[in-house]
Amino acid sequence: MKEMNRKIEGLTDSVIRRMTRISMECGAINLSQGFPDFDPPEFIMKRLAEVATAGPHQYSPTWGAYNYRAAVAKKVGMFMGMELDPDKNVIGTIGSTEAMMATLMAISNPGDKCVIFSPYFENYAAQSLFNSIEPIFIPLVPPKFTFDADLLEEAFKDPKTKCMILCNPSNPSGRVFTKDELQVIADLAIKYDVIIITDEVYEHIVFEPHKHCYIASLPGMWERTICCSSLSKTYSITGWRLGYIVANETLMDQCKKIHDFLTVCAPSPLQEAVIPGLEAPMSYYKELQAHYQHMHDIFTQGLDRIGFNYSDPEGSYFIMVDISDFSHGMNDVEFCEKMAREIGVAAVPGSSFFKEDVNHLARFHFAKKDETLYEALNRMEKIRTL
Ligand SMILES: Cc1ncc(COP(=O)(O)O)c(C=O)c1O
Repeated sequence: MKEMNRKIEGLTDSVIRRMTRISMECGAINLSQGFPDFDPPEFIMKRLAEVATAGPHQYSPTWGAYNYRAAVAKKVGMFMGMELDPDKNVIGTIGSTEAMMATLMAISNPGDKCVIFSPYFENYAAQSLFNSIEPIFIPLVPPKFTFDADLLEEAFKDPKTKCMILCNPSNPSGRVFTKDELQVIADLAIKYDVIIITDEVYEHIVFEPHKHCYIASLPGMWERTICCSSLSKTYSITGWRLGYIVANETLMDQCKKIHDFLTVCAPSPLQEAVIPGLEAPMSYYKELQAHYQHMHDIFTQGLDRIGFNYSDPEGSYFIMVDISDFSHGMNDVEFCEKMAREIGVAAVPGSSFFKEDVNHLARFHFAKKDETLYEALNRMEKIRTL
């Protein structure tokens, strides 16, 4: 057989999805891969049932059904404080995952560099690799996960730096970057002519008093930001695989060339069924936020009771927990495997998110029913016996 793709030789499977497999093998409560165990909103499920008989069941236009794009334009425009044109500024994608891949393919040439904060969501390194882009990792330093603006400037200064991937609110750190921090990034992007690719899938999961700010809405940034986001988390439909790219017409035309041939279109019945979600009133987002605050509080109070130290997340549904006091010399990978098999709770070893040598953390997610969280915490009480 002739040589396969050399670029992916060293690529291992996703640690997050591996932990899910281990969790299923040993019947653990899966707090590793982030998805809810509760239902999507009733009004979306009702519409899904109607669409099953009424359709559509065939391909939508490649950029997304017009009503899907119109609903995204209206909803995103309202939150970003901008007027968006469904034809010029929106593409419907297969989740944020496709949105980001299509974006990277659309803007990069082999040898380009991309700035990524570390710890990072593992897709970013893989998708950079697929596109022969070299990541420049800039540390977000635990426990506060702040960055050094001078280090960031060094990375932007590199003439090969084409873009920065900005995950905000951030998985796994839970950071919600302040407007001042975003302004630092925006100033550098303008100064060094760098494109910002946002991944804002947790835009509606932010804990008081923190506020999500869209970097695209800062002065001079609409010209150089490609916003990628998803309906997976906002409407608790990670399996529907719906997302979008929002950008100015020039950047969008470039992304359209890739999306057209990459996927044809996102699932058309699901684009139709999610429209009541996209049209939901502001109270929906307030309730979502309150629900996540509630799950956050159950989980952090449980961690306090057991005696864990952790970085309290400002947003997202992840929490980075310090395992040093409980690991008895095990590294984070050994600890997480043992915890899944012997305690019955699965988390992700923190080292899988860091470029730096950090192996005293584990990432848990708390997008779960109350009873699931209480049961997980009950099991975790036995952690000292590991
Ligand atoms: C930061 C981040 N981006 C993207 C995704 C994937 O989003 P989607 O389901 O829209 O592909 C996830 C899923 O966990 C995520 O945490």
